[in-house]
Amino acid sequence: MDRTFSIIKPDATKRNITGAINNIIEKNNLSIVAQKRIKLSKYKAEGFYSAHKEKPFFNDLIEYMTSGAVIVQVLEGMNAVKKYREIMGATNPENADDGTIRKKYALNIQENSVHGSDSDENAKIEIDFFFDESEIINN
Ligand code: CMP
Repeated sequence: MDRTFSIIKPDATKRNITGAINNIIEKNNLSIVAQKRIKLSKYKAEGFYSAHKEKPFFNDLIEYMTSGAVIVQVLEGMNAVKKYREIMGATNPENADDGTIRKKYALNIQENSVHGSDSDENAKIEIDFFFDESEIINN
C-alpha cells in the first residue's frame, strides 16, 4: 500500500468540517491510518513549509497555519499521493474541479482547507516530520 501525508487546515477545523472532509477521503478508498489534532508552533510550521521560505506568501502562510488547530494525517491506499491530489483539487479553489474538497470547501488560495504531499519522496519526509512509525496503525 502507498502512503501520503495530509493536513486539514485551520480554515476547516474552525468551520467544523473535518468530518465532512474525512468522509470524502474514506469514500475514495483512502484509509486514515494515523491522525492527530494539534496546534502547530511557528517553528514547526516554518520547518514544514521550508521549501516556500522565499515565496511572497510565506509569512502569511505561517501566520495562517498557526492560527488554529490542524489535523495531521497519514492516508493509505493505492497510488495514495496521486489519488489524494485528485480528491483535493487544484491549490487555487477557483481552478479546482467539481466534486473536489477544495472546490467544495476552500475559501481562497491560502485558506484552501487541505494539504497533500506532492510526491512519494515528500510523503515519507512529511510523515516522518509528524509521526513515529509506531503511531501508524494499519489493521
Ligand atoms: P499547500 O498545498 O499546503 O502548499 C503551500 C501552501 O501555501 C498552499 O497549500 C496554500 O495554502 C499556500 N499558497 C500556495 N500558493 C499560494 C499563493 N500564491 N498565495 C497564497 N498562498 C499560497
